[in-house]
Amino acid sequence: MSPPAVSAEALGDGSGVRITVIGGGTMGAAFSRAVKDVVLGSPSDLTVCEALPERRDWLISEFPDINVTDSFSQAVDGADVVFLSVKPQDLSSLSRESDVSGKLVISILAGSTIAEITAATGADRVVRAMPNTPAQIGDGFTAWTATPGVSEDERVLVRDLIEAMGDQLYVSDESVIDKITAVSGSGPAYVFLAIEAMINGAVQIGLRPDDARRMVLQTVIGAARFAQRTGQHPAVLKDMVTSPGGTTAAGLRVLEQRAVRAALIDAVAAAHQRAEELGQS
Ligand SMILES: NC(=O)c1ccc[n+]([C@@H]2O[C@H](COP(=O)([O-])OP(=O)(O)OC[C@H]3O[C@@H](n4cnc5c(N)ncnc54)[C@H](OP(=O)(O)O)[C@@H]3O)[C@@H](O)[C@H]2O)c1
Repeated sequence: MSPPAVSAEALGDGSGVRITVIGGGTMGAAFSRAVKDVVLGSPSDLTVCEALPERRDWLISEFPDINVTDSFSQAVDGADVVFLSVKPQDLSSLSRESDVSGKLVISILAGSTIAEITAATGADRVVRAMPNTPAQIGDGFTAWTATPGVSEDERVLVRDLIEAMGDQLYVSDESVIDKITAVSGSGPAYVFLAIEAMINGAVQIGLRPDDARRMVLQTVIGAARFAQRTGQHPAVLKDMVTSPGGTTAAGLRVLEQRAVRAALIDAVAAAHQRAEELGQS
């Protein structure tokens, strides 16, 4: 007999679904913060299982309405959905702690494949998701895929839960997760490097560091939002600010001479290769 799905009445708007987060670290707390108000009917439907006592104290002070426990079996037994946010190296120890085989399991463990998650948990209804760091403030991008056993209603619930952390993209082919990891997973680091360098440049020409940081951050946010809202190709938007013989043309000439475009293309390819290597090891 197949394991019970998340009940139909518990689906719909997500209220009534009992969710347990295993690992209340950075991402477990970010997910809890995102879903507790957005999707769940009652915060008491949310339980966080955390091994570290001082982290549990912090979770209780941060989220007074939700259940916080160190008991894996207590956390998992009543749950419809188990959200795994422990470190990948802790995955293998979970199977020894309690039975999650009948639950809908959502894993965000970087590099852990569906086959590994299934082997460790016994669950055959598994979602593998790859968020990025801005998910911590609800501005993330998460790619996800699911095993065939995850029903259509459950996929709607999963999408709603993930959307509480930002934008999302479902992919049917798990190998695409490695590609997306190289772009949106590692991408914030590429952007931070560019932000850092632009601040360095601004200070170099005599601007105050505080002012430089403020203007660079707003420039990046504004440029991204502008591209998103207009839907225009970035090349068109770039041309719009590049008058002949002007300042932007002078700056872009240096970026092209120093092969910044080629470096970014190669960076994505290198990150993809590394994601594939880590998935095989
Ligand atoms: N940070 C990101 O932006 C990001 C992005 C994409 C994916 N991820 C993935 O998300 C996962 C979590 O990352 P993180 O940055 O949130 O890590 P983290 O801050 O270290 O959180 C993991 C927490 O889980 C606890 N834990 C370990 N085993 C446990 C168990 N059996 N029961 C209950 N709690 C347990 C850990 O305690 P101990 O310290 O005592 O082990 C730690 O407090 C990782 O697998 C990572 O690959 C993270």
